[in-house]
Amino acid sequence: GVSWKLADHPKLPKGKQVAVVVLDGWGEAKPNEYNCIHVAETPCMDSLKTGAPERWRLVRAHGTAVGLPTEDDMGNSEVGHNALGAGRIFAQGAKLVDLALASGKIFEDDGFKYIKESFENGTLHLIGLLSDGGVHSRLDQLQLLLKGVGERGVKRVRVHILTDGRDVLDGSSVGFVETLEDDLAKLREKGIDAKVASGGGRMNVTMDRYENDWNVVKRGWDAQVLGEAPYKFKSALEAIKTLRAEPKANDQYLPPFVIVDENGKAVGPIVDGDAVVTFNFRADRMVMIAKALEYENFDKFDRVRFPKIHYAGMLQYDGELKLPSRYLVSPPEIDRTSGEYLVHNGIRTFACSETVKFGHVTFFWNGNRSGYFNAELEQYVEIPSDSGITFNEQPKMKALEIAEKARDAILSGKFDQVRVNLPNGDMVGHTGDIEATVVACKAADAAVKMILDAIEQVGGIYVVTADHGNAEDMVKRDKSGKPLLGKDGKIQILTSHTLEPVPIAIGGPGLSPGVRFRNDVPTGGLANVAATVMNLHGFEAPSDYETTLIEVVDN
Ligand code: 3PG
Ligand code: CO
Repeated sequence: GVSWKLADHPKLPKGKQVAVVVLDGWGEAKPNEYNCIHVAETPCMDSLKTGAPERWRLVRAHGTAVGLPTEDDMGNSEVGHNALGAGRIFAQGAKLVDLALASGKIFEDDGFKYIKESFENGTLHLIGLLSDGGVHSRLDQLQLLLKGVGERGVKRVRVHILTDGRDVLDGSSVGFVETLEDDLAKLREKGIDAKVASGGGRMNVTMDRYENDWNVVKRGWDAQVLGEAPYKFKSALEAIKTLRAEPKANDQYLPPFVIVDENGKAVGPIVDGDAVVTFNFRADRMVMIAKALEYENFDKFDRVRFPKIHYAGMLQYDGELKLPSRYLVSPPEIDRTSGEYLVHNGIRTFACSETVKFGHVTFFWNGNRSGYFNAELEQYVEIPSDSGITFNEQPKMKALEIAEKARDAILSGKFDQVRVNLPNGDMVGHTGDIEATVVACKAADAAVKMILDAIEQVGGIYVVTADHGNAEDMVKRDKSGKPLLGKDGKIQILTSHTLEPVPIAIGGPGLSPGVRFRNDVPTGGLANVAATVMNLHGFEAPSDYETTLIEVVDN
């Protein structure tokens, strides 16, 4: 068994309250007009940077530092919070799927065998995000999967696409659909009946998370399973081009559509005997659809029909719920997270965010595991997010409410660690609305201030950091860093995350005077934060954790 007892830190005391604040989508980049964090008034974050240079630094939040395949992979909240919470770097879903496809092992394991049982008499449905963003899924992986099933006896394939525009440029959906259609044509040449069956924008169809709005999943269910949607088209390309031409339309929010034959009949509803694979590797936005596809008892919406299918996820999305029970690739085994260690060592923990990021500081933080380790020592509070809006309409989001909850938790004295995620920079940054993102950054800064004030009052310690970049750069750039223009002559808005590092600042009246950042961890990343936080609670981190960022010098 695991020995959970952590050694005492030789120099740092126990019993200090520690606030851990994660600013979502808050990277560090050159100051300019597209850097919303720079443009916004952010006096609190500015003071952390300039006030104590030995307790402010940057850490890596993208690429291999967070277990992604290459240094060209931008960071994201799943891998970022996994690293923050687990203190080690795990090869993440994107990478594990790459390896399984490259070796062909994906086609030999039990998950695929289960799916294959339906090839003779049923249709294989592939549902997921059509994108090369590498955050939730990757187009090249879908292509290899299609090729692989084509070589292994599939007779009928239906792809249910979700358009992106959030991890990639808006409008890129058109090119992705063209690529997909070419691949499906290749399968048809081999005598396989292969088509796109339905689609819709990821924020409108299927990919909700943390139960913010089940209607999103229902719209997907109706199109994918029942073959019903408000829009019907002969082809996916026609669908996307037509729907994108509507005023204010964009890839993220396209309405659901189904592809129909010459008689107006949907070409690919999911029926008894079919197989379904959700091909996203990332968990958060697949858990809800996985429940709808797998659970016999389900009351979140009326499914109308519950087909008897062979269903597998690309990965298993929830390690605690074992959901889905079948999967093509084993997920990273993120074990012995800092949260689990700390509760074993008596640390009372409070975690809070609003719905759209709630699972980030709980589920992702704990290694894609839902629920408490020890309900007596932990309290997780979710503030309901606004639903049915795009977040540029309410850029302040629930930052103030989250900060108030954190403040109250700190002042109550009932918790040793108070952990929050402030979503603004990320959620508003993803809308591509620069003005609103500036408002968002200001709101996040004010929330940090409120939490730091509470820490000041109780003599505690703060750690302020972020999970990846987003709001600090809102324009697509060429290799030299120059903003790129679109066909219309306007700058190309970057709705996605970035490759930038993120800040980390520590301080507060409870911090021992000699604590400062070491300068021998120059390549430190998010995975180094867990050991750092354990130290601030008065413990040494487990020996296989990434090293701490701090040292204690004698004054
Ligand atoms: C999303 O799911 O909203 C984006 O693809 C990634 O954003 P996140 O990693 O910040 O959640
Ligand atoms: Co994001």
